Amino acid sequence: MLESEIQNQEEDQFQNSLRPKKINEYIGQERTKENLKIFIQASKNRKEPLEHVLLYGSPGLGKTTLAHIIANEMESNIKATSGPAIEKVGDLASILTNLEPGDVLFVDEIHRLNKLVEETLYPAMEDYKLDIIIGKGPSARTLQLDIARFTLIGATTRIGLVSAPLRSRFGMTYKLDFYQEPEIEQIISRSSQILNTQTQKQGQELLAKCSRKNPRVANRLLKRVRDIAQVKGDGIISKEITKKALAMLEVDELGLEPADRGFMRVLIEKFDGGPVGIGTLAAATSEERDTIEEIYEPYLLNIGFLQRTPRGRMATKKAYDHLGIEWLGHKGLNL
Ligand code: ADE
Repeated sequence: MLESEIQNQEEDQFQNSLRPKKINEYIGQERTKENLKIFIQASKNRKEPLEHVLLYGSPGLGKTTLAHIIANEMESNIKATSGPAIEKVGDLASILTNLEPGDVLFVDEIHRLNKLVEETLYPAMEDYKLDIIIGKGPSARTLQLDIARFTLIGATTRIGLVSAPLRSRFGMTYKLDFYQEPEIEQIISRSSQILNTQTQKQGQELLAKCSRKNPRVANRLLKRVRDIAQVKGDGIISKEITKKALAMLEVDELGLEPADRGFMRVLIEKFDGGPVGIGTLAAATSEERDTIEEIYEPYLLNIGFLQRTPRGRMATKKAYDHLGIEWLGHKGLNL
C-alpha cells in the first residue's frame, strides 16, 4: 500500500470517529434537517421505506455523514458504494439483489455512474424491478427480477453532471451549504470533547475562522493543532498555539492554503486576473480541471475571490487585496 493510501485510511478513520450518528447531533444545515426529520417520521409511521434522496454540495460538508444518519434514524442497514466502483450492470445487479426490504443504498459520486448502469438503476428506483439481458444477439432475452423496496441515497459534488432522468427519480434533493462560523465552532467543540482535548474559546474561534466553512477541514486542522499543542505547548488549544500551528501549516486567516493562493496567483499574474477559460487555467496550474472545479473554486467563489463569467474565470479586487497585489481594474471590463 502506498504511503498516501495509508494516510488516507487513517484520515478516514479519524473523520469517522467524529461523525455524528443521530440527526440531533448533526450541527448546521437546519432546513435540510427539518425536512428530513418530517419525511423520516412520516415514512416510519407508514412503515414504508424513505423516498430516494439526492445530496449535493462541496466535498467535506457532510453528505456521507448525513446518509449514515438517515439510515440510522430509519433503523435500516446501509450499504455504501460509489459511482466509479459500479463498473458493470452485473455489479449493480448483485448489489440490488442482495438488498433487504428497507435497506439504504448509498452511492457516492453518483454523477460518475456509467450510462448502462445508470439506465439499469431507473426501473430499480421507480418500480423496484431489475431488467437483465440474458444472452447475446437474436436469442437475447430480458429477464425481470423483483428487488427489495429500498432507499437510494445519492451524493454528488457536481449536480450539473447528474442527468435529468436520474435527478427526476429522486423524491428529495438537498443542497448542503458552507457552514456558518458559529456552527463550525460548535463542531470543533464537539470534536474536541470526543478527542479529549482541552480547547480555549479564542483558540476555537480562530480555528473556526480558518476552516473554510467546512467540517472536514475543521476536524483535520483540529487534529494538526492538537499535535502541535502537545509537542510545542501544554496540550491545550489556546489562541497562541493555534496561531503558531496555522503559521506552520501555512494556512492564512481565511483558511487558504499554499495551493489556493498559488491558484489565485496564476490567475492574477499570468492572466491579468482573467477572464480565462478553465482549460487554460488547468494547464497553467498543472491541476486537473475537476480538482479546480470541485476543490478550489467553490470556496473561492463563496468568499468572493473568484467570479465565473461566460468568458471565463476572473479574480476580484478582494483577491488582489488579500494577496497584496495592486489592483488596476480589469482591462476593458467595467467591474
Ligand atoms: N462532523 C462533520 N460534520 C458534522 C456536522 N455537521 N455536525 C457535527 N459533526 C460533524
